Amino acid sequence: MSIESFAAVDVIATKRDHQELSDLQIDWFVDAYVRGVVAEEQMAAMAMAILLNGMNRREIVRWTQAYINSGETMDWSALNRATADKHSTGGVGDKITLPLAPIVAACGISVPQLSGRGLGHTGGTLDKLESIRGWRAKLSKQEMFDVLNNVGAVICAANEQLAPADRRIYALRDVTATVESIPLISASIMSKKIAEGTGALILDVKVGSGAFMKTVEQARELAQTMVGIGKDAGVETRALLTAMDVPLGRTAGNALEVRESLEVLSGGGPSDVVELTLALAREMLDAASVRGVKPTKDPATAIRDGSAMDTWRQMIVAQGGDVDASLPTAAETHTVYAQGSGYLTKLDALGVGVCSWRLGAGRARKEDNVQAGAGVEWHADLGDEISAGQKLFTLHTDEPTRFEQALASLESAYSVGALSDVSARLPLIIERIV
Ligand code: URA
Repeated sequence: MSIESFAAVDVIATKRDHQELSDLQIDWFVDAYVRGVVAEEQMAAMAMAILLNGMNRREIVRWTQAYINSGETMDWSALNRATADKHSTGGVGDKITLPLAPIVAACGISVPQLSGRGLGHTGGTLDKLESIRGWRAKLSKQEMFDVLNNVGAVICAANEQLAPADRRIYALRDVTATVESIPLISASIMSKKIAEGTGALILDVKVGSGAFMKTVEQARELAQTMVGIGKDAGVETRALLTAMDVPLGRTAGNALEVRESLEVLSGGGPSDVVELTLALAREMLDAASVRGVKPTKDPATAIRDGSAMDTWRQMIVAQGGDVDASLPTAAETHTVYAQGSGYLTKLDALGVGVCSWRLGAGRARKEDNVQAGAGVEWHADLGDEISAGQKLFTLHTDEPTRFEQALASLESAYSVGALSDVSARLPLIIERIV
């Protein structure tokens, strides 16, 4: 039996008693958990102590590094091209990664994007792309390199060996009410992004009812913490705080969001999706250029000249997708019409997200399947003038028994009334943190 450097209870008690954890304590605790020496309940107790008592920057950076050290890291130096990635903390109708990755690649910067699946009311990029016939999320490291090298952008599932400590601790946090800790969220997100090997990283930290962070203050603290961790690890990291009080674009749901992303790549699409995609693309190019790499064109040009769409098609085909196949549609639809005239005074991201989830676009447990065609379309934006009888929402699902519950979540998510009652909305881009 090997002699351990610490006793788990003593390390937990240190954090419980508001003391700082030393670098050695952190390294040992995470490593011993991965080795099975620290038990699940001891890690759960530590997560709760961190949630309640916090961590300083040194502790967070070390805790993040301990996650990274638990697995493999990726290295893209053989590409001979600068790399940049984007991470969103998740929201409703957030399909930005889909147009963004090919746009940035068309501007000369490679995008190695490891994405996740949706859980709860927020959608996942992989679920959206899987609505394209034949498209494969799971690639070997060599396949990922080849797509990145040949196309310039790849969006795929994270390899199981990337920050495995985070994978286990995240599952534990999920069932012990310890998800909402800024040090733990920051370490979880940043360990995966740093291990992924990107040179530059732009964080899209969402704020509002449909986001993890409900207030600008919380989002700012999370963004500042993550930017600090990235910079300490040598990754050029910046963050935008962006609005998620109102859902993004006009659709939530897997195939529906692919369709909207294609509209953006074709030069159309909802103005908020276009504006945010271009802002994030410019941030990625600017962050990558810190290492002396100049983009070959502006993101708006890449849309206009068709090169972003060409890159999208190559990226999908390289992962087995049939770019010309029609996107799946749900078997049933239900339309919600305006009962009276006035203005759309409320359009709440969380309510719309829950509606889409209940229609089958999202999952309640990790093992659940999602429906490719399920979701919601909203035909009016917050503040728009509405006439009685006008179409407000179209709900899509393969299982019509889902309509009742979905409609119940939509009921409190919108209202039509007087212009003076239109809710104030957050600016799309609230703040930039560097
Ligand atoms: N996303 C993650 O990857 N980890 C968290 O802790 C929260 C969101």
